[in-house]
Amino acid sequence: MLEVKNLTFKVNENGVERSIVKDISFSMENGEMLVITGPNGGGKSTLAKVLMGIEKADAGQILLDGADISDFDIDHRAKAGIGFAFQQPPRFKGMTVDRLLGLAAGEHLPEQEACRMLSAVGLCAKEYLKREIDGTLSGGEMKRLEIATVLAKPHKLCIFDEPEAGIDLWSFSMLIQQFERIHRKKDQMLMLISHQERIIRMADRIMVIDDGKIKHIGPREEILPALLTDEPSCTCMDREQ
Ligand SMILES: Nc1ncnc2c1ncn2[C@@H]1O[C@H](COP(=O)(O)OP(=O)(O)OP(=O)(O)O)[C@@H](O)[C@H]1O
Ligand SMILES: [Mg+2]
Repeated sequence: MLEVKNLTFKVNENGVERSIVKDISFSMENGEMLVITGPNGGGKSTLAKVLMGIEKADAGQILLDGADISDFDIDHRAKAGIGFAFQQPPRFKGMTVDRLLGLAAGEHLPEQEACRMLSAVGLCAKEYLKREIDGTLSGGEMKRLEIATVLAKPHKLCIFDEPEAGIDLWSFSMLIQQFERIHRKKDQMLMLISHQERIIRMADRIMVIDDGKIKHIGPREEILPALLTDEPSCTCMDREQ
């Protein structure tokens, strides 16, 4: 279970303090899929980074299965069971794909296993194993590789920030299957940040974040109709044609 209490994150811009995450509280049950959506710049990625320890909260508390991880750095949070896929994955010059997957899995992976992980996100495995994670990989290749590193082992909480961004329709369908597989097992919490209707429709609960605050949170059946009928000024969701 994840419990987030009064989480606040501020930045200092030219001497002026600005709150990006404003006193956010919510919880997640084991096995739950929570989809976070909301307008661009609302604070979704920042909230996710604060949960992963990439950004340090100014106030608030984070409990994972009852343990207070608020003061843990990113490595400790990863060890405590949080996996994170960036909206814009970092590149690691000099690091090969198979080595990164091994690090993510916590052990050296036999070639067959690394290939299986790449295939699960639609990458033609053998072609990629010895590739460097540098500027030669396309945005969509980076994105799927990043997701593969989180899928490389089970976590208590998996956070995927806009997993659909920049990937082709075929790979998108494969990703949906991966999320459904994890969701069915009911042993990991899945937090997906997304603007995609197909992903939003998979949620047990939906959270809408706007201006650093939770605007809505509730079961999918309750929140989705409101999202679908929201006026066009609400740019939080890409609707399917
Ligand atoms: N370190 C920082 N310094 C200054 N401003 C920041 C910082 N981090 C985030 N912001 C600002 O905080 C706001 C929220 O950013 P964030 O990336 O969390 O939004 P988002 O909801 O993920 O948006 P999107 O849907 O476009 O991905 C934006 O206005 C962003 O410019
Ligand atoms: Mg974002």
